[in-house]
Amino acid sequence: MKIRVLGAAAGGGFPQWNCNAPLSRAVRENRPGFLARTQSSIAASADGRNWAVFNASPDIRQQIAATSDLQPAADAPLRSTPIRAVILTNADVDHIAGLLSLREREPFTLYATRRVLETLASNSIFQVLNPDHVERRELALEGETELHGPDGPLGLSIETFSVPGKVALFLEDPEKSDFGTSSGDTIGLAVRRTANIGAADKTLFYVPGCAAIEAPFKQRISGGGCLMFDGTVFENDEMANTGVGSKTGARMGHLAIGGPEGSLAGLADVYLKRRVFIHINNTNPILDPRSAETSAVLAAGWEVAFDGMELEL
Ligand code: MLT
Ligand code: MN
Repeated sequence: MKIRVLGAAAGGGFPQWNCNAPLSRAVRENRPGFLARTQSSIAASADGRNWAVFNASPDIRQQIAATSDLQPAADAPLRSTPIRAVILTNADVDHIAGLLSLREREPFTLYATRRVLETLASNSIFQVLNPDHVERRELALEGETELHGPDGPLGLSIETFSVPGKVALFLEDPEKSDFGTSSGDTIGLAVRRTANIGAADKTLFYVPGCAAIEAPFKQRISGGGCLMFDGTVFENDEMANTGVGSKTGARMGHLAIGGPEGSLAGLADVYLKRRVFIHINNTNPILDPRSAETSAVLAAGWEVAFDGMELEL
């Protein structure tokens, strides 16, 4: 299975359009080692010709332009795409807004949980994806789904599992202590070739949003070929510390990397062939290759995702 990181940043991207904090300034100034990153998305393929895109970021047009695998092949019809399926892990703006760029009567299959499909159905702008061409298929909260494009199976299967998270920001109910979050708002995925179902070492665990690490999750991912995990913030109160906002990682549904409760500590005893932080917010010091935080994650065996990163499983 071929895997491409299309966008390694969290919502807002890196640099974020209106951010003047030191990290965004550094990347805008092309300081050595700083890499611009687009918003949260990956792609996978079993055969190198037909691709599934996981999360449709607002930057998808730019991501396709940067990724020849996702462009129409030279011998393909006048209107065509290698993107045969799109799978959503939640309804956040950084994961669904790109659907609007995938209009133009192009067939593909759209997979999401009922909660996320309901959000798309209740926002009429998503009718630009005409159901005559774009079939919407519901993902169960637990279980295996063989991915299909309009012409048949892609040779890829996904296993869906619920992870602790939060309802999309634009759907928050301020009256409720959990902001109206319910199951199906955030899922993680095990992605592999259909031929490799059951082979953990050939499985990518893709979890770009996760608010807490629980024991069953650790068991599920143990022995995995690669974990791509929520790297939104290094410190829970990083937004306040950097002076750009007041929301904590926890308030946004994202577990911090550092600290005794963080993902670095929480996943230290799980065996994985590779572990990669993805969905990285523009305040996160792991975006600075010379920071102490980058040294800490690298020393713990983690990689920091970047746009164009390629993996093979
Ligand atoms: C998140 O990951 O927390 C969201 O993408 C935030 C947002 O919707 O801007
Ligand atoms: Mn996000």
